Amino acid sequence: MSARRLVTGIAIGLTVIAASGAISTGASAAQPSKKYTAAQVAKHATAKDCWTSINGQVYNLTTWIKGHPGGSGPILSICGRDGSSAFNSQHQGQGGPAAMLRKFQIGKLG
Ligand code: HEM
Repeated sequence: MSARRLVTGIAIGLTVIAASGAISTGASAAQPSKKYTAAQVAKHATAKDCWTSINGQVYNLTTWIKGHPGGSGPILSICGRDGSSAFNSQHQGQGGPAAMLRKFQIGKLG
């Protein structure tokens, strides 16, 4: 095989790997500038599709329902609605929950 064909093959291979998502910056690309209304958040109010708004930001917590150390109940209770007071009263000032929350951000209220 010529060096040129080898380089072309490697380039195609890397393109395929990148396009497949095997190399990515995160499980779901955060789009913090995307805006959603409270009415849009309200359409995602189930255990299979759970959005919430907390302190002006919008989050998709669907995959966190089963992962939450405090149980699924608190997360389920804020699906489709504003979870600011629930989250703040439990986790205000705690770095761990705030850092975890950032991973689920899909946009902001607006
Ligand atoms: C909204 C209402 C919420 C309530 C009432 C609540 C409640 C709790 C409780 C009681 C614990 C302690 C569990 C234990 O140690 O046995 C806990 C832990 C935790 N929660 Fe929440 N939670 C809420 C929302 C969230 C959200 C939205 C996130 C992040 C997406 C989150 C992230 C965490 C994390 C990371 C821990 C472990 C903290 C640690 O051990 O340092 N929680 N939660």
